[in-house]
Amino acid sequence: MAVSVAQRIARALRGKPTLVLGLPTGRTPLNLYRELARLTAAGQADFSRASTFNLDEFLGLAAAHPGSYRSYMERHLFTHVNLQPDRIHLLDGNARDPLRECEHYERAIREAGGIDLQLLGIGANGHIGFNEPGPSVSARTHRTRLHPETRRANAMLFGGDWRKVPREALSVGVGTILRAREIILLATGRDKAACIQRMVYGPVTPRVPASFLQLHSNVRLVLDATAGASVRGPTRRRPRR
Ligand code: GLP
Repeated sequence: MAVSVAQRIARALRGKPTLVLGLPTGRTPLNLYRELARLTAAGQADFSRASTFNLDEFLGLAAAHPGSYRSYMERHLFTHVNLQPDRIHLLDGNARDPLRECEHYERAIREAGGIDLQLLGIGANGHIGFNEPGPSVSARTHRTRLHPETRRANAMLFGGDWRKVPREALSVGVGTILRAREIILLATGRDKAACIQRMVYGPVTPRVPASFLQLHSNVRLVLDATAGASVRGPTRRRPRR
């Protein structure tokens, strides 16, 4: 999975050196980031004119905090590829005015010409970025409250203690993601199988934010056998009596 997606990215960079990439965090893209580092070292990927926009960041954390997504990205990708620091964009979780920070981020994406290739992971509850399941989704970059299960899934960044994971975050919106020209979603592991099936075959609903990807015309899912295990066909609904 990592090799094929990394090669896809390297090809996209050759076709458009000023490529604008949208980037996720989490465990899933780790092998991909390792592979991109390898391709860069081998002279097969060139990020020197590319730009990146990360999906999300915890609220109330300094960028240098080891649990921040900024630190994660520095550790796993930015220090290993030749991106120019001024073309790397992450939401500032420590911004004095988070709402202004969100507006500023939307503007920066627009001014960069929009996201060409958005990479995504998926939370076991169907979240993308930090767009959590609920009665509605936000179209634009926004401030959001994290579900306890999402905080638990991020505990590894905070010494394994989920209570240390911030309760709030900033995230690009579902509309921001859907405006990307191309989307690649990666998922591995049995715990993703149910949400993958609901994303692909269930109704488009804010209860499964990833289901909004059904509205996009250029989405590729890259799944391992366990994450793709239950993708067999449309969910049959019992007729109502
Ligand atoms: C976090 C991130 C998401 C990511 C998700 C899945 O909550 N905000 O962008 O897709 O986790 O993480 P993992 O790949 O570790 O399952």
